[in-house]
Amino acid sequence: MSQTKAYIAGCGSYVPENVISNDDLSRLVDTSDEWIVPRTGIRERRKVEVGKEASSDLATAAGLKAIEMAGISASDLDLIVGATITPDHLFPNTACLVQRNLGAHEAAAFDLSAACAGFIYALEVAKQFVISGTRKCVLVIGVDCMTTITDYTDRNSCIIFGDGAGAAVVRPSEGDSQIYETTLGARGEGDLFLVPAGGSRLPASHETISSGGHFLKMEGPKVFRFAVQKMEELLDAATTQNGFSKDDVKWVIPHQVNLRIMESAFRRIGIPMDRVIINIDRYGNTSAASVPMALDEAVRDGRIQRGDLCAMVAFGAGLSWASTLLRW
Ligand code: UT7
Repeated sequence: MSQTKAYIAGCGSYVPENVISNDDLSRLVDTSDEWIVPRTGIRERRKVEVGKEASSDLATAAGLKAIEMAGISASDLDLIVGATITPDHLFPNTACLVQRNLGAHEAAAFDLSAACAGFIYALEVAKQFVISGTRKCVLVIGVDCMTTITDYTDRNSCIIFGDGAGAAVVRPSEGDSQIYETTLGARGEGDLFLVPAGGSRLPASHETISSGGHFLKMEGPKVFRFAVQKMEELLDAATTQNGFSKDDVKWVIPHQVNLRIMESAFRRIGIPMDRVIINIDRYGNTSAASVPMALDEAVRDGRIQRGDLCAMVAFGAGLSWASTLLRW
């Protein structure tokens, strides 16, 4: 008997309405559109309205679209896996809130935390549940409201991040569509990119708030060097497996980390940019939402067609990384 395969039956994404342009940021910190665009490729990003929307709302909207594309109803879901570093609350997990919002009463629900690599980590979890036969209809959501942990007095980091959600429904496959091998990895280096306070190491207090410990801290150039090296390794791992070569890969969907990092890696590995899905110009770096948002955009505008071989790569805080190859 052949082994069960898993595939993405539908995808969806959602971003909040509120746009922050580079000019908006130049009114908050000493920066400019002329500095940001050539250094990062980012022109604008989205921001939730605090008090009105949070991660579970974005995740629910993206999830609904994925469910619709997959042609299922929420009651068919038997598992929801959320990937986020900006949950609505420390607990309960965001996937439980999405489960309630969708009315997916049959679904178990949990979150995992792998920062920008979170969606591919969660996709692999879903795939393993499906091929083991224990779950048949899994909703995977990458969501982050990075603007809620961004310090808008720090020009080194505030230009990078935005908010959004991307989702995928993973089901058993009876055709050619499938998720192939996934590479997951980590190297524990907590100091490069973190939110220092608000957890059990440094619980929230007047002092942590007044020192800005609840905002993300990032060693930009060090993360940059790690990202360039990892992008190349992950692309190699994703694109040369199962007898495929990088020329067989029609689309690469990278974590939208920084256009300079992406262009440098793809130039070195020999993949032309017209085979790479890019939307960092409009959304910035949305962490766990970045890969599924780019996937959804390219599926809905018709670039990615059923049967296309696609590679996904992502890396971020932890440090953690992930890549996968799939036939859409
Ligand atoms: O998912 C992973 C998340 N992390 C990332 O995506 C970050 C990866 N890193 C990066 O994208 C880049 O390191 C940045 C875009 C954050 C920074 O670019 P860089 O080319 O590495 O700049 P730098 O940090 O080396 O700074 C160069 C100069 C410095 O000035 P001095 O010391 O040379 O006078 C900075 O103070 O640019 C200055 N600078 C800025 N100037 C205007 C840094 N940020 C800004 C800014 N506007 N926003």
